[in-house]
Amino acid sequence: MAVVRDVHQPLLFEVAWEVANKVGGIYTVIKTKVPVTVKEFGDRFTLIGPLSYKSAPVEVEAEEPEPGTPLAESLQAMKDRGVKYLYGRWLIEGAPRVLLFDTGSAHDRLDEWKADLWNIAGIPTPPNDHETNETILFGYLTAWFLGEFTSRCLDKAVIAHFHEWQAGLAIPLCRKRKIDVTTIFTTHATLLGRYLCAGSVDFYNNLQYFDVDHEAGKRGIYHRYCIERSATHCADVFTTVSHITAFESEHLLKRKPDGVLPNGLNVVKFAAMHEFQNLHVKAKEKINDFIRGHFYGHFDFDLDNTIYLFTAGRYEFRNKGVDMFIESLARLNHRLKTMGSKMTVVAFIIMPAATNSYTVEALKGQAVTGQLKDVVSQITERIGQRIFEHASRYNGTHGTEVPNPEDLMSKEDKVLLKRRVFALKRTTLPPVVTHNMADDAADPILNQIRRVQLFNRTSDRVKVIFHPEFLNSNNPILGLDYEEFVRGCHMGVFPSYYEPFGYTPAECTVMGIPNITTNLSGFGCFMEDLLESPEDYGCYIVDRRNQGVDESVEQLTNQLLGFTMKSRRQRINQRNRTERLSELLDWKSLGVEYAKARQLALRRAYPDSFDDDEPEFTGVQRVGAPLSAPGSPRFRSGMMTPGDYATLTEEMEHLSTTDYMGGKSWQGINDVDDESHY
Ligand code: UDP
Ligand code: G6P
Ligand code: GLC
Repeated sequence: MAVVRDVHQPLLFEVAWEVANKVGGIYTVIKTKVPVTVKEFGDRFTLIGPLSYKSAPVEVEAEEPEPGTPLAESLQAMKDRGVKYLYGRWLIEGAPRVLLFDTGSAHDRLDEWKADLWNIAGIPTPPNDHETNETILFGYLTAWFLGEFTSRCLDKAVIAHFHEWQAGLAIPLCRKRKIDVTTIFTTHATLLGRYLCAGSVDFYNNLQYFDVDHEAGKRGIYHRYCIERSATHCADVFTTVSHITAFESEHLLKRKPDGVLPNGLNVVKFAAMHEFQNLHVKAKEKINDFIRGHFYGHFDFDLDNTIYLFTAGRYEFRNKGVDMFIESLARLNHRLKTMGSKMTVVAFIIMPAATNSYTVEALKGQAVTGQLKDVVSQITERIGQRIFEHASRYNGTHGTEVPNPEDLMSKEDKVLLKRRVFALKRTTLPPVVTHNMADDAADPILNQIRRVQLFNRTSDRVKVIFHPEFLNSNNPILGLDYEEFVRGCHMGVFPSYYEPFGYTPAECTVMGIPNITTNLSGFGCFMEDLLESPEDYGCYIVDRRNQGVDESVEQLTNQLLGFTMKSRRQRINQRNRTERLSELLDWKSLGVEYAKARQLALRRAYPDSFDDDEPEFTGVQRVGAPLSAPGSPRFRSGMMTPGDYATLTEEMEHLSTTDYMGGKSWQGINDVDDESHY
């Protein structure tokens, strides 16, 4: 007799290569979503990822699974056959259960599994593609585990939710082996899309026409593409992170997504509303310190009239729009010079590349200003002592109350200070890059900076600093965490060409930092759909769809120029407005789309377990927008969430592509500037 699994108290496994293993945005999706998922599932929720011996010890606290449970027995069965894993709690908010498989411990099975993959799915795999090998090992281990688990746990329905192709291989395996789970596949990009865009194709106008197998073959990724496509087609429910990627998936992966699950963030509200403004000042002061050091000898601009712009992310020159950013900076420089502007713009590019440590010049800048600061504070202390000494000897003689300023600095102090000041002399310009690049001459960012000649000259109003490494607070030259750095900047600029969602501008938004994105990024389209006038809220969107590259660069330049012309008060107001958008990006409301996808998966796998008159989605309780808050953007209807556009119901199948392309907008932006705190 077939087992009847309880679909109302299901178990959830969420599987991704970036569980407790940071690479890019998928890590952020998984990590920030945990609190709402734990709230809904508690200990019925377990994350599955690969075991990285570098990051796991700091991310995970090992725990023994409860003896005698299906989990413990399944893991024991795998252990008995040589599989190593780490089970425990991921040390993040929500402390979810996490299971990390050591793919290396199964390496001796790789050839057997590759042969199996060829036999069951006709997917060929070349010998030396490390990423694909890891994908195979991880996929087979995950499917193995789910098979063991579902054969022991028979009373509850099991939902397995996979993210991206590196985790998706287990999906066709589950289907082939008839493992009794229901599967969801969420893709955060398509392989072909990323590759095609990085080249010089007119991607969006040709999406319908690509010969996908041929294009994948030409780029040497046919086998990876096959894995991605089989995950897409074998999943019970297929979703992606934005409408633009839904459209792309339909054409490149040949399955129309069942819906869109927009990315959210774990939004933390401060007790005092203006606290984030204070954090901006504190973090900016740290960036100021770095700037004084970096520009020593050429530090002739006023930090009070300086704007910090930045872009950051994985090094994808064209996809992340760095090409457009640098070109616009060059035009901005020219315009500011022509206008005789008193503003200086410092533009940071934070993108990891292969390097051989910091440059001597970058380290020296911080060292000489650090030494100057030390000497100045020693001298100041001695001056203070002299003033005190003098004043304490006051004997009533009129005119002797205050010491002669000339006498306050000793001859030795003057020499000491001069020596430190002379150390600031320099014959070179402040460097454009902070590290020694492994391949300086071929680096696309450096080459473009050379081409547009943004060399940090005194006459330049736009200065550029390329930091080819992700930030962390132990960094000897720019010692801030990424979050602190973002807070200290004035604006994030992300003019992406290929960006399924794009967390970086979303993170800026919740920190109250204005940002620029494009209508080719999932986030940009999302904001455009939700807000009638995103720019008023500090969410600038460059049109990269309906105009030529030159016009887009011009639009971006104008946005940057307009920003430099704002007064401090205007910047403060704009930050307040930007920060108010946070609630739109909060998992507390967006998490509901994931719940809908799970419901649909259960219905598809176990249709007989649902009554006909049971509503399609009962879901989790959603925290609505606080409609009473002044100056906040409003939902068109209190009960609506942005993902409602992507209605995850069976009807989706009968709709045409345009039906999930949104097109609705939010109304009722209450245009109140909150100056009450200042
Ligand atoms: N990020 C980071 N340090 C940096 C720059 C970026 O940790 O110096 C993070 C950022 O917070 C974001 C992620 O990297 O969460 C990038 O995600 P996004 O969705 O923007 O792009 P992806 O890399 O996934 O294409
Ligand atoms: C915050 C602080 C203000 C400060 C301002 C600087 O709003 O609360 O005291 O003046 O930041 O803003 P700016 O855009 O010049 O960095
Ligand atoms: C992918 C995309 C990025 C997205 C992230 C999380 O890596 O490149 O745009 O934000 O996944 O969904």
